[in-house]
Amino acid sequence: MAQDYIKIPDAYHGYAQTHFCVPKHYEEDLENILIPWGLIQDRTERLARDIFQDVKDEPLTALCVLKGGYRFFTDLLDKLTTLNRSHGSVSVPLYVDFIRLKSYENDDSTGDIQVIGGDSMNSLRGRNVLVVEDIIDTGHTMAKLLAILRQHQPKSVKVASLLVKRRPGSTGYRPDYCGFEIPNLFVVGYALDYNEYFRDLNHICVINEAGKKKYAAPKGSD
Ligand code: HPA
Ligand code: MG
Repeated sequence: MAQDYIKIPDAYHGYAQTHFCVPKHYEEDLENILIPWGLIQDRTERLARDIFQDVKDEPLTALCVLKGGYRFFTDLLDKLTTLNRSHGSVSVPLYVDFIRLKSYENDDSTGDIQVIGGDSMNSLRGRNVLVVEDIIDTGHTMAKLLAILRQHQPKSVKVASLLVKRRPGSTGYRPDYCGFEIPNLFVVGYALDYNEYFRDLNHICVINEAGKKKYAAPKGSD
């Protein structure tokens, strides 16, 4: 199960944005469309089916890691609730919660993280938890989040991440459910951002140098 993902090779250059629709305000800022929105939907439908088959009749607490995970979370949950409605003989009671992760030290992967928002972590005791993330990059953040969650004694914790980046320096962590393994490129769209821009783009795209420059964080901000 853990190796079950779509691998996008380094040599793959995706689609030209002229073949699909992108907002005018981002036209100059993208290298290519790596994963079109429709393909994200199709892959998410299958991930929902895999999750549904694995959990069977037990309740599931789906934990959305904001902000980047919000679109994948809503689409995944939509597909799970469709299965719940249509399956008839089996259904998965769903609870939802939303958290944000804050690093104590500026983006430094060695720093600790803090979970903000969400219900009390104590409510996870005895629950089957599904963490829903947009992307696993180094794997450090996820390792820290899992350690925090396990302190609250859930019955089980699984992770669904839409993307896993092939990144030097990765811990090698693999989520239980993974949509796509992507090259070591900075991607935006479908709620993934670059300094808060591009969340309002449907497709997952590779940002270009002009885009990085245009939307660079102002000096002094974190
Ligand atoms: N895009 C957006 N956010 C990210 C990425 C990325 O490629 N990697 C880690 N966080
Ligand atoms: Mg994320």
